[in-house]
Amino acid sequence: GSAVKFFLDTADIAEIKTGIAWGVVDGVTTNPSLYAKVGGSYEELLKEICGLTKGPVSAEVIADDADGMVSEGRAFAKIASNIVVKVPMTTAGLEAISRFKAEGIKTNCTLIFTANQGLMAAKAGASLISPFVGRLDDISEDGMTVIRELAEIFQHYDDLEHCEILAASIRHPRHVTESALCGAHVATMPLKVLEQMTKHPLTDKGIAQFKADWSKAKGGK
Ligand code: G3P
Repeated sequence: GSAVKFFLDTADIAEIKTGIAWGVVDGVTTNPSLYAKVGGSYEELLKEICGLTKGPVSAEVIADDADGMVSEGRAFAKIASNIVVKVPMTTAGLEAISRFKAEGIKTNCTLIFTANQGLMAAKAGASLISPFVGRLDDISEDGMTVIRELAEIFQHYDDLEHCEILAASIRHPRHVTESALCGAHVATMPLKVLEQMTKHPLTDKGIAQFKADWSKAKGGK
């Protein structure tokens, strides 16, 4: 299949523009906490983000009940064709996901912490499932195990092909490498992690050496 996709996990327009300019951003994920950092109108923000990337843009619902989630999600879906409605992993969330699926609205099931939760969301019809790697590591569990288990489960069945495993709550470049090694379809990360992935001290050292040698040679003539 195609290479692991990189999404930016932010609602900050400047950050999204920066990452997109690097040519490696395939989509954007937002959530209420990321939105709270920038403020304003969530709808306007989503419209602007959807204009910056053709890739999926996740917009998260706030309601606890399926009817509320469905009406919030329908409104998000009207903003742009690349909107994906982000729904939390609850029984109401599963109902909403299956109703969105019937309406042709894509969903991202969020706050996944076990392989069973991911499997349930995939079976309900989610387009993306988001296990939170970093938040599991934070409580001394191994977040990557959930990604690995889901990737293995998905290999056994053909009818989960509508659904992609999105490694979320990524805290550092190693999480991205390991997600790709497990076969996660997507990793969503802050711009900081995307930038850290380009870095190595020997790269910086090498550039400095090339520059020094170049000017020595030029100066010698
Ligand atoms: O957007 C969902 C997830 O990626 C949040 O990550 O860092 O708040 O655990 P974090």
